Amino acid sequence: MSATGAGGGASQPLPYDPAYETPEPDEAETTAALVETMRGIAETTYQDEGVPLRSVHAKSHGLLRGRLQVLEGLPAALAQGLFARPAEYPVVLRFSTNPGDLLDDSISVPRGLAVKVVGVEGARLPGSESAREQDFVLVNAPVFAAPTAKAFLGSARLLAKTTDTPQGLKKAVSAVLRTAEAALEAVGGQSATLTQMGGHPNTHPLGDSYFSATPFLYGRCMAKFAVVPVAPSLLALRDRKVSVSGRPDALREEILAHFAAQGAEWELRVQLCTDLAAMPIEDPSVEWPEAMSPYVTVARISAGAQPSWSEARSRAVDLGMAFSPWQGLAAHRPLGAVNRARRPAYRMSSAFRAERSGCPMHHPRSADELPI
Ligand code: HEM
Repeated sequence: MSATGAGGGASQPLPYDPAYETPEPDEAETTAALVETMRGIAETTYQDEGVPLRSVHAKSHGLLRGRLQVLEGLPAALAQGLFARPAEYPVVLRFSTNPGDLLDDSISVPRGLAVKVVGVEGARLPGSESAREQDFVLVNAPVFAAPTAKAFLGSARLLAKTTDTPQGLKKAVSAVLRTAEAALEAVGGQSATLTQMGGHPNTHPLGDSYFSATPFLYGRCMAKFAVVPVAPSLLALRDRKVSVSGRPDALREEILAHFAAQGAEWELRVQLCTDLAAMPIEDPSVEWPEAMSPYVTVARISAGAQPSWSEARSRAVDLGMAFSPWQGLAAHRPLGAVNRARRPAYRMSSAFRAERSGCPMHHPRSADELPI
């Protein structure tokens, strides 16, 4: 298939067509099995910790309040959905790592960043009609490890099996995997499985760039999102290794140290789909080539100096809030089977927290309603 953008040039954004989304074989069964697997992880960690945690990305390292400013003068192709006109919104940022249990930070795993933009007006996604949020759920890699929801189910089941294994064993495995990963990277490879299981380089979360990895509608077209550090103090942390020895909450401490003294700034960028063959909608393990369609800045996110983690913030955000790609504007509808499968899984996981804690999820509609 070689659909290109309107006007035939590869640099033109390609208008969305429902034919670009194709159901995955056994998609309904896979989705149900993912929900069940994720529920199993949450049940296990609830028994261990006595508090309900997210099925994945359970541990938070930074919980920040900031602002998102949509840039002025965006060209029509970029001035879509949330970014249709210049505006400023309050945001909540949640930095996490991907396991479902609360691990010692010496077990080095991929990082996540969730952004909730508050007070957003416009036609909404089904299921999020009464909210005024636009969430962005991102990881520190431009691609998702699994090409299909079914393939992800395989890894999720593996992850579910390691939930609950003793920390000591996980630490040992992580140290071995990190060495294996470094050796593999030295010869030009990177193994998704090794990285997910604890072989991720232990970088500073504030130096990393974060990506949606999966595609979304962008008005009439399609795009992926990224949040990229731009403040010099963040750029100085790029690829900086965090010392984790004897520091179970090293990442939290590093972020606290940063925000004790200074703020931060990131750019929110979009990568428009201009060619379906090179930039597939249904396989998020394919990196869309930046040579064909570079990420372009549409907004700036800033956060001032603040106490970036506390028990009170954790109760408010980890326990009392939920981030989901399905909480947002219809103009940014998540696309593809992996995104479709996420919808009931995120709903189940946040409902589990609400059920066990007895507190419904908090959906702030304005700055006044922000819990941090
Ligand atoms: C079928 C695929 C996926 C499933 C079943 C799944 C499932 C989940 C679940 C159940 C949660 C917890 C939600 C909550 O309790 O509030 C979660 C959170 C998260 N997921 Fe996924 N996920 C999938 C794909 C992805 C992808 C492609 C990304 C890449 C960006 C991603 C990144 C994250 C992040 C960063 C969080 C933490 C959000 C927060 O801080 O609240 N997930 N996922």
